[in-house]
Amino acid sequence: MNDKQKVDNLESLRKRVMHADREALIYFLTAEREEVLSTLWEWSDQVRRQHVGDAVHLRGLIEVSNYCAANCIYCGIRAGNHHLLRYRMEIPEILTQVRLAVKLGYGTVVLQSGESSRQMPGRWVTELIRTIRSECDLAITLGMGERSRDEYQEWFSAGANRYLMRYETSNSGLFHTLHPGHLGLESRLNSLHLLREIGYEIGSGIMVGIPGQTWDDLAADLLLFRQLNLDMIGVGPFLPHPETPLGSSYLEGQVFTPGAQVPNNEITTLKTVALTRLVCPMANIPSTTALAAVDVKSGHELGLSRGANVIMPNLTPTHYRSLYEIYPAKADTGEAAEHYDSRLKARILALGRHPGIGRGDSPNKGVRTCEHNPEH
Ligand code: 5AD
Repeated sequence: MNDKQKVDNLESLRKRVMHADREALIYFLTAEREEVLSTLWEWSDQVRRQHVGDAVHLRGLIEVSNYCAANCIYCGIRAGNHHLLRYRMEIPEILTQVRLAVKLGYGTVVLQSGESSRQMPGRWVTELIRTIRSECDLAITLGMGERSRDEYQEWFSAGANRYLMRYETSNSGLFHTLHPGHLGLESRLNSLHLLREIGYEIGSGIMVGIPGQTWDDLAADLLLFRQLNLDMIGVGPFLPHPETPLGSSYLEGQVFTPGAQVPNNEITTLKTVALTRLVCPMANIPSTTALAAVDVKSGHELGLSRGANVIMPNLTPTHYRSLYEIYPAKADTGEAAEHYDSRLKARILALGRHPGIGRGDSPNKGVRTCEHNPEH
């Protein structure tokens, strides 16, 4: 192939990716040649700039409780991990961290927890949202797992704006293996549907390289992002946690099938982030903490340069953080939020970007009712 043919060929592949063609997605996911990869990085950065601009929105993450009734086989705070001290923050304690988010100029707090109706009763969450709303003008994002429609509705009416719930994999067989006791992928997707119907901005996402995931699965995960027309999409590598069934067998080398299996490495995660930006140009996409955990030095920057436009600094008080290890938290140095914040902002400016001002709502929300055309 001469140079012109190569360029034409890449251009036609780009169009196919923008139209979410599965084979074109797999082509880029498995690509190794430097010229193909640099083209993917350039495209994703261009599309990011064109659709969501240069602002990097900062969301203050507060891990309000690690109680969890679910037993996801990859997650460190699963109910079956009995080596963990469980906590639920008090509302005034949470409010102190929300005030810190306001002081640092963040437009959103993300209240995250395990999934536990018993330890996190719906009413308690409602009171928490009302208390924050009565005092602070920022967007409230929840990530509290699957709850009832009435609870989603009550929390929305109390002032919550967005909800994060990853589907983790679009392969229903694999979903079933990963989530023992769960009703299944359909039920997870139905929750997302309910949340959207109520009026939340909805976010979802996956883990890259979760054992059992094939290239075909990963391409299907990307197609589902687009089909769900998500406002927020989180993508991070699977990180084995030794106190979990999946993590311990992975660490013993028992569950990796070379060839078919997607690796849980940085480059594959970055390719997935870049392709996510191409298939969902207007979504808010974080450069995730898990990505920063596999590359402490430059994971966040690489994510931001390859499609991401959001970072979620951890505002959980340091003494609770070690109890919220969904995966081994190598990246978390326990640094106080204020120090981390000033370093982070400097890193964002060094990239030629700037911290976002205001809530940083999803640009996708305004056009959701229009026909979805990723090229405009
Ligand atoms: N490695 C990477 N990500 C994980 N999550 C949970 N456990 C792990 C792990 N071991 C992710 C899931 C979940 C989100 C809160 O964290 O995708 O939805």
